[in-house]
Amino acid sequence: MHLPRSVRDADVDRKRVLVRSDLNVPLDAGRVADDTRIRASLPTLQLLLDRGAERVTVCSHLGRPKGEDPQFSMQPVRERLRQLLDDDRLDVLENTRFNAGETKNDPAFARQLAGDNELFVEDAFGSVHRAHASTVGVAEVLPAYAGLLLERELQELGKLLGVVEHPFVLISGGAKVDDKLGVLQNLGGKADAVLVGGKMAEQLREHNPLSFDVVLPTDVVAASEFAEDADAKVAPYDDLPEGWLGLDIGPETRETFAHHVAEARTIFWNGPMGVFEWPRFAEGTKAVAEAVARSESYSVVGGADSARALTELGLEDEVSWLSTGGGAALELLEGKELPGVSIIPEGA
Ligand code: 3PG
Ligand code: MG
Repeated sequence: MHLPRSVRDADVDRKRVLVRSDLNVPLDAGRVADDTRIRASLPTLQLLLDRGAERVTVCSHLGRPKGEDPQFSMQPVRERLRQLLDDDRLDVLENTRFNAGETKNDPAFARQLAGDNELFVEDAFGSVHRAHASTVGVAEVLPAYAGLLLERELQELGKLLGVVEHPFVLISGGAKVDDKLGVLQNLGGKADAVLVGGKMAEQLREHNPLSFDVVLPTDVVAASEFAEDADAKVAPYDDLPEGWLGLDIGPETRETFAHHVAEARTIFWNGPMGVFEWPRFAEGTKAVAEAVARSESYSVVGGADSARALTELGLEDEVSWLSTGGGAALELLEGKELPGVSIIPEGA
């Protein structure tokens, strides 16, 4: 794997530094609903300030606005960051996606972002799979280094690509099935068990394009319609009442999955087991979160929904590594090149 040079080896004393963090956080009525990514960006900013940087300017995208849109202003993020790290040398730029040049990796916008900065630190692990002006363009204009979070993410997720301790159990769920098949194909072959829930399971039951077998649910929580308050009951997977939908894994499946997880020495989990944002269909995802947290193995969890399930249960510190990247973590594990990483010169 390409290991980029580290901010720890950069001379930042009296320098003006531009940092790309991933501060793309969920907002609720104009307030930061979950500040995990903001807190994860702090160690790099603190390091730069401690080492005497003259100015530290942070940039990030927020959501997917089409042009300038006050609903996607960085102001709430800026305020939260200020509460966590109060230093006059620190500033946060407005949403990079307010400029159409961002997603086009427009060189003119990259130069504008670079401004009079002397150094660029890429710390936005969650965004390095995007070849945008703030993740790739600026690194062509300024000397670029990897931030502490980016480094740690590459190190922790990278362990899964190397030699792992067995049994290695892979757990996959959620809706974005096509995004995840690549990871399963790349890692699944060396896993001892691949447990699949959610929409992913339905698709693989129909047709499994993978070169190995997977463990599918044997029972589900079935619902009469796709609604939070639908009639619901446990049913065998292959015997749902006509027209009903499986919205969560059932109790027997939870037990089977938990049993595999308990045996594991290495675990990677990505994606919920059902429609876990509706409490009546959240038990399967919770059971997996609890089983993974209980395990003493090397456990890595990626993706916003799995992270949220762990956090809601207060179990976020019970896993070995909780990745701040969704798509980026998947692409890394799929073996794809990450443009925001390869653009940074290799470390010594
Ligand atoms: C994420 O939340 O996955 C990253 O911040 C990337 O956001 P994007 O999918 O809108 O590029
Ligand atoms: Mg644990």
